[in-house]
Parts: sequence; C-alpha cells; structure tokens
Amino acid sequence: MRKSDLADGQILGLDVTEGRAQRRLIVIRRGDEVTAFENRCPHAGWPLDTFDGRFLSSETGGLICAAHMAVFDPKTGACLGGPGQGRGLTPVPVQAEGDSWLIGPATRA
Ligand code: FES
Repeated sequence: MRKSDLADGQILGLDVTEGRAQRRLIVIRRGDEVTAFENRCPHAGWPLDTFDGRFLSSETGGLICAAHMAVFDPKTGACLGGPGQGRGLTPVPVQAEGDSWLIGPATRA
C-alpha cells in the first residue's frame, strides 16, 4: 500500500486474498505510525466495521467494535473495555519501505 493511500487519522478496511483464503484487515494511521489487525473481534468474531464499512472510534481514539461496542487500543489492539473480555485484536506486521507500507501476514500465538 502506498503511504499516500492512507491519510493521517484514517482507519481503513482491507480485503486481502492469500491463495484461496480471503482475509479482512484493519489498517490505522496516526501520523507516521501505521498499525494493522485482523478485522475480527475477539468477542464474537464479527468484523469491527459497520454494515456500510465505517470504523467507529471513541473520543480518546479507541477503536470500537460496531457489533457490541468493545473498545480496543489502536496501537496495540489490546481490549480496553466492553465485551472483548480482555482479549485483544490479532496484530498484523506493518513495515515501512520507501513510499509504501508492507502489510504482512498475521502473527499467531
Ligand atoms: S463482536 Fe465485537 S463486541 Fe461483540
């Protein structure tokens, strides 16, 4: 993804195809820092965005799941409140390279 494709403060949903598998990701830019997560809430497995593809955030910048309002830290994916039951989002590595961000495969524990 080119850096110019993601504005400062933007939260973007991406559908990525890897072989036959389709993955949904969330990419978040705050200044020069970009984080990415699997778009799957640890509460009930729903995507975090609304039916029309928008992402919700709290006044303090927390990423809110549209399904049941669990709140996640946009830097770490840690659950900050709501029914996430302390489980965080699955991080996806992001690496800056020239004028692009390379968004890699999800890390799984
Ligand atoms: S699926 Fe996200 S809070 Fe329930």
